[in-house]
Amino acid sequence: MGTLFKGGTVITASETIEADVLVEGEIVTLIGRNINAKGHEVVNCKGKYLIPGGIDVHTHLDLAFGGTVANDDFNTGHRAAAFGGTTSHIDFVIQPKGGSLHDGLKAWREKAKPAQIDYGFHLAITDLRDEVMAEIPTLLDEGVTSLKLFMAYKNVFQIDDATLFKTMRTAAANGMIVMVHAENGDVEATLTPSLLAEGKTDPIYHAHSRPPEIEGEATNRAVVMAGMTGCSLYVVHMTCEPSIAALRRGRALGYPVMGESCTQYFFLTAEKHLGAPGFEGAKFVCSPPIRTVHDQGVLWGAVKDGTLQAVSTDHCNFWFEGGKGPWKEWLDKHGNKDWEKFEAKAPGNRRPGKELGKGNFAKIPNGMPGLEERMMVMWEAGVNQGRISANRFVELLCTNPAKIFGMYPKKGTISVGSDADIVVWDPKAKHTLSVKNTHMRTDYIVYEGMKVRGKPSMVFLRGKKIVDGDQWLGANGEGKFIHRKPKAPVL
Ligand code: URP
Ligand code: ZN
Ligand code: ZN
Repeated sequence: MGTLFKGGTVITASETIEADVLVEGEIVTLIGRNINAKGHEVVNCKGKYLIPGGIDVHTHLDLAFGGTVANDDFNTGHRAAAFGGTTSHIDFVIQPKGGSLHDGLKAWREKAKPAQIDYGFHLAITDLRDEVMAEIPTLLDEGVTSLKLFMAYKNVFQIDDATLFKTMRTAAANGMIVMVHAENGDVEATLTPSLLAEGKTDPIYHAHSRPPEIEGEATNRAVVMAGMTGCSLYVVHMTCEPSIAALRRGRALGYPVMGESCTQYFFLTAEKHLGAPGFEGAKFVCSPPIRTVHDQGVLWGAVKDGTLQAVSTDHCNFWFEGGKGPWKEWLDKHGNKDWEKFEAKAPGNRRPGKELGKGNFAKIPNGMPGLEERMMVMWEAGVNQGRISANRFVELLCTNPAKIFGMYPKKGTISVGSDADIVVWDPKAKHTLSVKNTHMRTDYIVYEGMKVRGKPSMVFLRGKKIVDGDQWLGANGEGKFIHRKPKAPVL
């Protein structure tokens, strides 16, 4: 007996067809008109779209960062993702300083034990010693095909140009892809103390410490190195005109370079959100910073003309009002881990969050929530408001991420033989985004009050229904690691 999705409209990156979809076990086995329902469980999809499960290739679950640990983990983050229509994601493993890449992998495998949706890992190199360089090709045996390098966060994750160049050469030789966080961290590290010394400590000055030029410069540097080494490059969280221009130039020269932006950069501005009264702006502190309405236009243009290939979230969320309960004692005893247990101990307990940066923008943990809302907000602003087609929406949020990161066609589309990660999308459903109805572990969302039309009504992971309306049907341990393939195409 299979599951028959009957009477819906299947939307892929290339087609919109009225068809039934038969799923047997975990796989799509038949797509066609009037498939015989006998012996199958029928899901009535009349008036609904069937779209592939969303893929978010940029998340930071359970990440120790900014003096605390991000709130959502492979339990809460996964449930929230699924409620928003995302059934797979790739998280960033961080190589511990002095440790190996495999040490990082081991730690992330532990974090991922409660998985409820499918997941993969990128590996962020922070310390490229000779033996670490030799380790890079062995990651392919572990299903890890993508490396990440931070050109910013000096004295934390930042690498130097030699590391970037050497990594690219090795990645190119092994069919791997390099991802960069492109901001000139040395310039930022020079601007920040000057701003603070001038008494410019509010959240808005975080944006002043990371102007668009430093993103454009770093993007250009990485793009040029990709051209020189022939390494596939994927620039993460692109926000502004100078970096888009650098990527566009590289693509025009035939370099193997690609890029993503993240949802927040299409909606939020430094002026309104970072510059909100009091400490409110801390909610919106992320790196690179949110920019201007003009840059939002540039991003939509880049999405339309194919300069950008994907839209992710960079989900990395911290309490706005954290640091409640005996958290200092907990920190002394346990270090920066097991915060979930601390929070479960008493209703008011919270790990530290954004308040760490009151009076000093440089101490505000960088990042924001967004994993749950990505598909709804991009559908609303993209498809409903006529900026992109429903097919392009699927391409940017599902298919291209799968292709670029070696998961296609198992993931990212609805076709015979693909994993049955299917979102039954109700294009008529109206919904107001609010912290009151979010599934993320957060005390705020960045789209508070935004009205959307179109949301998942049911979500299936490899054929199993995990979301039905407001009901959660998934379970810990049901999410599987995605073993990815190298030599993915440059789009
Ligand atoms: O502010 C951000 N983006 N936080 C997460 C880490 C990163 O740089 O992606
Ligand atoms: Zn980053
Ligand atoms: Zn990130």
